[in-house]
Amino acid sequence: MHLYKYEKIWLIFGTGVLALFLLIVGIGAFAMGHEPPSDDETIDPQKVRETPPFDNPGLKQIGDQEYELVIVAQAFAFQPSDIEIPKGAKVHFIVTSPDVVHGLAVAQTNVNMMVTPGHINRITHTFKDAGEYLMVCNEYCGTGHQFMGTRIEVVE
Ligand code: CUA
Repeated sequence: MHLYKYEKIWLIFGTGVLALFLLIVGIGAFAMGHEPPSDDETIDPQKVRETPPFDNPGLKQIGDQEYELVIVAQAFAFQPSDIEIPKGAKVHFIVTSPDVVHGLAVAQTNVNMMVTPGHINRITHTFKDAGEYLMVCNEYCGTGHQFMGTRIEVVE
């Protein structure tokens, strides 16, 4: 009778600890914004060129000082290659790849993402200072990888 009672207590305790653990992991992973840069939107990599917004890459104003920057990252260049952004603009990068995995990193900012074919990758950054920012591919993607880069001009 005594043994049974202790067994029951431990069973409840064990189950409780497990539930608590799963809860902590769950909160840690999903609820606190620790998700990877969003790539839950998918796209057919074969049809990137026909699929909006990637049929027309470039900078589009969507609000007061707010822009969408649609980029196609492919071996071995970013499209568009000439990017001019007004100083102070909040820019939503929307990026995909029609071929292999690329990276997209903008020097002097927190913009650093993996660009996976089949997914639409997003990141937002506000360009507070004018100047020239180097945008490079930082995932090895083939023989032309080191040439894959361009400049973003942030103008007054
Ligand atoms: Cu694209 Cu490295």
